[in-house]
Amino acid sequence: MSRVVFFSLLLLIICLFFTSFSNGAGPPAGSKGPAKGPSPGAPGSKGPGPGKGPSPGASGPKGPGPGPGPVSSSDPGSLYKSFLDCLPTQSPQPDPSFSTIVYSSTANSSAYTKTLQDHIRNKRYNVASTPKPVIIATPKKESHVQAIVLCAKKLNIQIKIRSGGHDYEAISYVSSEKKFMILDMFNIRKVDINIPAQTAYVEAGAQLGDLYYRIWEKSKVHGFPSGVCPTIGVGGHLSGSGYGTMIRKYGLSIDHITDAKIVTANGKVMDRKTMGEDLFWALRGGSGSSFGVVLSFTVKLVSVPKVTTVFRIEKPVEQNAIDAIMKWQSIMPTIDNDLFIRLLLSTNKNSIRTVFIANFLGDSSRVLALMNKSFPELGVKKEDCHEVTWFQSLFYWAEIDYNKSKPEVFLDRKTVPNFFKRKSDYVQTPIQKAGWSAIFNKLKGLDKVAMGFNPYGGKMSEIAANATPMPHRAGNLYKIQYSINWGESDPKATENGLKQAKDIFEFMTTYVSKNPRGAFTNYRDFDIGVRSGDGFNSGKVYGEKYYKGNYERLVKIKTAVDPDNFFRNEQSIPAQSKKG
Ligand SMILES: Cc1cc2nc3c(=O)[nH]c(=O)nc-3n(C[C@H](O)[C@H](O)[C@H](O)COP(=O)(O)OP(=O)(O)OC[C@H]3O[C@@H](n4cnc5c(N)ncnc54)[C@H](O)[C@@H]3O)c2cc1C
Ligand SMILES: *[C@@H]1O[C@H](CO)[C@@H](O)[C@H](O)[C@H]1NC(C)=O
Ligand SMILES: *[C@@H]1O[C@H](CO)[C@@H](O)[C@H](O)[C@H]1NC(C)=O
Ligand SMILES: *[C@@H]1O[C@H](CO)[C@@H](O)[C@H](O)[C@H]1NC(C)=O
Repeated sequence: MSRVVFFSLLLLIICLFFTSFSNGAGPPAGSKGPAKGPSPGAPGSKGPGPGKGPSPGASGPKGPGPGPGPVSSSDPGSLYKSFLDCLPTQSPQPDPSFSTIVYSSTANSSAYTKTLQDHIRNKRYNVASTPKPVIIATPKKESHVQAIVLCAKKLNIQIKIRSGGHDYEAISYVSSEKKFMILDMFNIRKVDINIPAQTAYVEAGAQLGDLYYRIWEKSKVHGFPSGVCPTIGVGGHLSGSGYGTMIRKYGLSIDHITDAKIVTANGKVMDRKTMGEDLFWALRGGSGSSFGVVLSFTVKLVSVPKVTTVFRIEKPVEQNAIDAIMKWQSIMPTIDNDLFIRLLLSTNKNSIRTVFIANFLGDSSRVLALMNKSFPELGVKKEDCHEVTWFQSLFYWAEIDYNKSKPEVFLDRKTVPNFFKRKSDYVQTPIQKAGWSAIFNKLKGLDKVAMGFNPYGGKMSEIAANATPMPHRAGNLYKIQYSINWGESDPKATENGLKQAKDIFEFMTTYVSKNPRGAFTNYRDFDIGVRSGDGFNSGKVYGEKYYKGNYERLVKIKTAVDPDNFFRNEQSIPAQSKKG
C-alpha cells in the first residue's frame, strides 16, 4: 500500500472517529475507492419542483449504491451549450479557458463524474436516486465566478456553492430543484500568512488543513480557532461559524474574520468596505450560500503556547462514569479557558463507553495541578499527558499519529465517505444524575448512535448573541452533536440509522434548550425544517433554531442584497416577498 493511500485512509478514520465516535467506525469493507460515479439519468427524469420542500435525500436513498441517477434537467446537453455560449458574454475579460472548467454529464462526463465525487463526504447523498447537477463549473479565478453567477441567473439555473463538501445534508451539491448546477470552489484555494500583521488571507476553496499547515510553516506560536478535521472547506466552515478545541479561549472562527470578498447576485465583487457592515455581519455565521459566493476571508490569527497538552481518559461505567460526567458538567463552564474537554458517549455491546478528550493550551504540570484541584474524579496522571506543539495537537484530535506522519498529510484532500446523519442540541440547565442514567439506558438500545458534548463558557459567554448571526453564546453549558454512522448502502440500514437519530433526539427533548430548540448552523439537519413556497414562513421554522433573534436581521439583509432570491437552498434565508 502506498504511503499516500495509507495516510488518506488514516485521515478518514480519524475525522469520522472524533466527530462521531462510533465504535469500530472506520471505512466499511469495500469502501476503499471512490464510489462509481453517477451516470446520466434517463432523459426527462423528474425531481421535485422548485422550492418544494425537503431534498430528496432527506428521507434517505431509495436505491442502493451510486449508479445511473437522475440528472436534474430534461435536456442537460442543450443547457450546457447555452451556458458555455453565455460565459464569454458575461465575463469581465475575454477568456479562452471556459470550456475546460465547465462539465456536464454529456459534454465531459469523466471530468463531471470525478469532480462531483471528489468532494462528497456523505455516501447517503451518493446513491442512484440522488439528483445530479446539470452542470459543474470549477472556476479558477474571480472573473470566472462572476461570469458563472451571471449566466446561471440568465438561464435560470439554481447555483449550489461547494467548497469542501462537508455539509451534513449535502446542501452544496444536491438539490430539491430540478435545474441546478454546482459551482465548485476547490481550485480557488490560496493561503497567505502574514506573521507581522498576524493575519491570514485564505480563499474559500482551501481546506482547514491548508490553513493550519501554512500557519505552522511560518510560526510555532500562532494558530487559528477552527474545526478538527483537516479536509473541511473554508468556504462553508467559516461562513457557518466554525469551532474547535480553542472555543473556550478564543470563541468561533467567525469571531476572528476581519474581511471577506464575495461575488453577489448581480455579479459584482465586493469586500468589507464595499459590501457594508450588514452584509459582512451576515457572512459571519449566516451561511454564505444565502448571500453570495465567498471568494476569500481575511482572519486574525491567535497566539498559541509553545507547548499544548492533550490527553484522553476512558471511564468505565463501574468506575463511577456518571459521577465524573456530573463533575465535568459543573466545572467546564467556568474552568480556565485554556482547557477544553470533550465528552464522548457511545455504545459498545450493550454497555456505554465514556471518554473524555482534553486539549490544554499549556504544559502538563499546569494542567495536572488544575485537574487535581478541580476534577480529581478523572484521575489524570502524568503518563496520560502528551506534551505536543499546537500543530501536533491538531493531528491528535484528527487521530493521525504525529510521530509517524509528515506535516503534509494536512494538505491531503482525499477522504473516504461514509453513510451518516448528524443532529445538534444545546444544554442550558445541568442534567441531573437520574437524567444521565436514563440517557445511558436509552443509548444501550441505539447501537449506531454516539453523542459528543462540547463545553462552552469562557470566551463564548463574553460575546453578545447578536455580535454575529450565531446566537448560541452565554447561557449554554455545552453543545451536543449526535452522530449516527452506518457502513452499508442497504436502504434498510439507512432507514434504521435515520430512525435511531430521530429516536435519540426525541428522547433528549426534556434535557435541552426550548422555544426555540437551538441548532448549530454548521451541523446542518433537514429534520428541523426546510424551505417551501417563497420561503418566508417555512424559513422562520429552521431560521429561529439556527439564528434565534438574529433571523429577522438576516432576512432584512437578504432582502436588500438578493431580493430575487437567486442564492437559495433548502435552508437558506428567504428574501421578504415583494407582495409583503
Ligand atoms: C468529518 C467532519 C468533521 C467536522 N468537524 C467540525 C468541527 O470540528 N467544527 C465545526 O464547526 N464543524 C465541523 N463540521 C461541519 C462543517 O464545519 C460544516 O459542514 C461546514 O459547512 C463545511 O464546510 P465545507 O466548505 O466543507 O462544506 P460545503 O458542503 O462545501 O458547504 C457547506 C455550506 O456552505 C456553503 N458554501 C460553501 N462554500 C461557499 C462559498 N465559497 N460561498 C458561499 N457559500 C459557501 C454551501 O453552499 C453549503 O451551504 C464537520 C463536518 C464533517 C463532515
Ligand atoms: C474536458 O475536461 C478536461 C479536463 O479539464 C479538459 O481538458 C477538456 O478540454 C474537456 N473536454 C471537453 C470536450 O470539454
Ligand atoms: C493533589 O493535591 C493534593 C492536595 O490537595 C496534594 O496532596 C497532591 O500531592 C496533589 N497531587 C498531584 C498529583 O499534584
Ligand atoms: C510520540 O513520541 C514521543 C517521543 O518518543 C513519545 O513520548 C510520545 O508518547 C509519542 N506520542 C504518541 C501519541 O504516541
